[in-house]
Amino acid sequence: MIAITGANGNLGKATLSFLLKKTKPENIVAVVRDAGKLSEYAGSGMHIRVADYEDQESLERALTGVHRLLQISASATGVRAMAQETRVVHAAVKCGVQEIVYTSTLFPEESAHFHAAHICRNTEALVRQSSMRYIFFRNSMYHETIPLFIGEAMGDGRIFYPSGNGRVSFVSRRDIAEALSHVLTGPAFNNAIHDITGPEAFSFADIALELKDIAGYRDAAHTDISPEDYRKGLLGFGLDEEEAGFYASMADSIRAGEFEKTHHSLEGFLGRKPLGVQQYLRGLF
Ligand SMILES: NC(=O)c1ccc[n+]([C@@H]2O[C@H](COP(=O)([O-])OP(=O)(O)OC[C@H]3O[C@@H](n4cnc5c(N)ncnc54)[C@H](OP(=O)(O)O)[C@@H]3O)[C@@H](O)[C@H]2O)c1
Repeated sequence: MIAITGANGNLGKATLSFLLKKTKPENIVAVVRDAGKLSEYAGSGMHIRVADYEDQESLERALTGVHRLLQISASATGVRAMAQETRVVHAAVKCGVQEIVYTSTLFPEESAHFHAAHICRNTEALVRQSSMRYIFFRNSMYHETIPLFIGEAMGDGRIFYPSGNGRVSFVSRRDIAEALSHVLTGPAFNNAIHDITGPEAFSFADIALELKDIAGYRDAAHTDISPEDYRKGLLGFGLDEEEAGFYASMADSIRAGEFEKTHHSLEGFLGRKPLGVQQYLRGLF
C-alpha cells in the first residue's frame, strides 16, 4: 500500500487526485488528523487513517502494512516540526515501510538561512541512516507563495520585500503533486535526490514587471526594504517571534540566493514543461 501524510493539505490532496488516476483507491492510505477533512473520499475504498504527528502510536497504527510512503514535510516550525518529522520517520521504520519519498527544500544545507531547511536537513539525514530506500524532492517555493510574499502588491504591483536581487525558481504545487504520483507508482526507489523547480528563476523586480504587464499596474516596482523593518512589520501584524523569525528567514534565504537554482528534473517526471510564473500570475487576474 502507498501512504501519504498530510493527505488533506494542498499538496497531499493534489497528489491524491493524481494518484487515483494511476492506482485503485484500495491501494492508498491517506493519513490525516481529521478524517472529516477527506469526507469526499469516504466510501471510495481509500483507507483514511487518523494520526497526529504529535502522537507516535497513532502514526504507527496509520503506517501498518504500508510499503511506500510519501512523507510531506510538517507545517509546524522550529523544534516542534523537527520532532514531528522525526516521529514520522521512526514510525515508518518501525512499521517496515520500504520506500519513502520526502518533500524537502531546495537548499537543506548547514549554512541555510531558511529555518525550515534545518528541519529538512535533519529529516533527510534520518531517512538516509534508515534501511528505507528513498527519493527526496527538494522543492523550490510554490507559485502560491507569491501572493503571500507580496501581499497588497497583488492590488497595485508595489512590492515591499527584503529579498535584494535574490531570485526564486518558483514551482507549481500541482506540478509537484503530479510528479509525486508518478514516483509513488513508479519503479523501485533508488536513493535519488531531485531539485524540483520551475523552469526559470524570478527576482521580485521581475515579478513586479510581470504584474505591470499582466495586470497593467503602472506603478509596479520592487522596493528592497530592510530585513529589520520587515521583521518589525510582521510582529506588528501580530505574528509571534518564532513566526516572524520564520518568515524573515525565508526572505534572508531568497536574498542569499538559496532558491535560485533551476533544474530540469520536474520536466523529466512530467514529460512536459512545468507551469511557469507568468502562466500562474495570468491565472490570478
Ligand atoms: N515549497 C513551498 O513554497 C512551501 C510552502 C508552504 C509549505 N511548504 C511545506 O510543504 C508542506 C506541504 O504544503 P501544503 O501546501 O500541502 O501545506 P498545507 O496545506 O498546510 O498542509 C499541511 C498538512 O499537514 C497536516 N498537519 C499539520 N499538523 C499536523 C499534525 N500535527 N499531525 C498530522 N498532520 C498534520 C495538515 O493537516 P490539518 O489540515 O489537520 O492541519 C495538512 O494536511 C507544508 O507542510 C510545508 O512543510 C512548502
